[in-house]
Amino acid sequence: MVITPLKDGPNQVAGGVVVQDPDGNVIKEASTVYLCRCGFSQDAPLCDGSHRRNNWSSAFR
Ligand code: FES
Repeated sequence: MVITPLKDGPNQVAGGVVVQDPDGNVIKEASTVYLCRCGFSQDAPLCDGSHRRNNWSSAFR
């Protein structure tokens, strides 16, 4: 697994990933997922593109 914080965007997690909720239910299973780090996603923990609409910057994160 490789985690890459994308400039002004989500954390890209590549290499085979299972994202689960706190109860262990699978939210998404994929070779690559994008996890929100801006806090605006309506589909958290996944990125839904809201970082772009909010002009979020990763400069200080
Ligand atoms: S990083 Fe994309 S919606 Fe938060």
